[in-house]
Amino acid sequence: MVVGAPAGCGVKALVLCGGAGSRLRPLTHTSAKQLVPVANKPILFYGLEAIAEAGIVDVGIIVGDTRREVMAAVGDGAEWGLRVTYIRQDEPLGLAHCVLIARDFLGEDDFLMYLGDNLLEDRLADVVAGFAAERAQLEGAPAAMILLRKVLDARQFGVAVLDADRRVTRLVEKPPEPPSDLAMVGIYLFDARVHEAVASIGPSGRGELEITDAIQWLVDAGHRVTAREITGWWIDTGKKDPLLEANRLLLEELEPRIEGIVDEASSIEGRVVIEAGASIVRSTVRGPAVIGAGVRVTDSFVGPFTAIGAGCEITGSEIDHSVVLEGSRIVDAGRIVDSLLGREVAVVRGEGRRGATGLMLGDHSRVELA
Ligand code: DAU
Repeated sequence: MVVGAPAGCGVKALVLCGGAGSRLRPLTHTSAKQLVPVANKPILFYGLEAIAEAGIVDVGIIVGDTRREVMAAVGDGAEWGLRVTYIRQDEPLGLAHCVLIARDFLGEDDFLMYLGDNLLEDRLADVVAGFAAERAQLEGAPAAMILLRKVLDARQFGVAVLDADRRVTRLVEKPPEPPSDLAMVGIYLFDARVHEAVASIGPSGRGELEITDAIQWLVDAGHRVTAREITGWWIDTGKKDPLLEANRLLLEELEPRIEGIVDEASSIEGRVVIEAGASIVRSTVRGPAVIGAGVRVTDSFVGPFTAIGAGCEITGSEIDHSVVLEGSRIVDAGRIVDSLLGREVAVVRGEGRRGATGLMLGDHSRVELA
């Protein structure tokens, strides 16, 4: 390692952006779930920023059906100072399958595996440096490090059991009766011994090559696997409510900035970003909130924890605790809360019968009526 260089030097990253985003449908029918914006920035970009900050340069991105969109958004990675290699996965055959197909890219190097839909408050740079420090030990250097977070309901995650020395002894994927409350965060560090592990395991009950099983294989083979428990927030954004929660947490860290136009009859309260070209007319925006470029807010109230994507129109309506993607229109719509609206969506007051609702919804849409 070069003296003074960031801890991540010599470590690669493997970022997983394949898979089918069935739980965020219809938003992800055609688009990548890793690119759904949180606080008006694609989820994946937070991960790429953190990887760059950790001093990692070489990043392999696993892409599947949505590869065109991911490649268009990330490009060659130069925007973050990264060197990106795309690795095509024809079918989402599991997280360990991603390691298997990335063999040539990874070579014999240590690497960070990062699930593209995970968001973490803790600094990734500290995690990577922690692994490097443990690997520098002369004896018993760990083959892997996993991140764990205490959760109330661990059934939807990989779950770990630790011994008294906090070594990992057992790992189970989505157990109906979790043996502990320690969920596996979608961020892992490995050395080259993981390649034998992923080549040795078979598919799980759900037909996937599970990274959880590969790590259990390392443990069973007598290799040391260490765990680091995180205490900051962590969110697997694959569903609506966690996505809104991530939006809430990230908006709280917003640096206020007003580049658009706010007329004299409007008021801006709290942490608010108003991007260039946006206009706020006879309206209130109460932060934390972000209003994207070119958005028009007229005779409306945009409440806390709301992110409005570029080019939207909000007229005669109230909205809070929501994420609205680019180009959508909300006109005379009453009050909208806890909502996730896709691109170019229209929620408008119709001419029809009072008290009646007229709908045109895509497949797998969901409407909650109060
Ligand atoms: O988020 C943490 C959890 O992530 C862990 O607790 C679990 O142990 C781990 O198995 C994983 O569970 P999920 O069910 O949440 O994984 P998901 O299928 O959502 O895939 C995670 C990311 O990896 C997602 O961005 C899509 C991508 N992916 C997934 C598969 C199965 C791929 O790129 N290729 C794949 O084959």
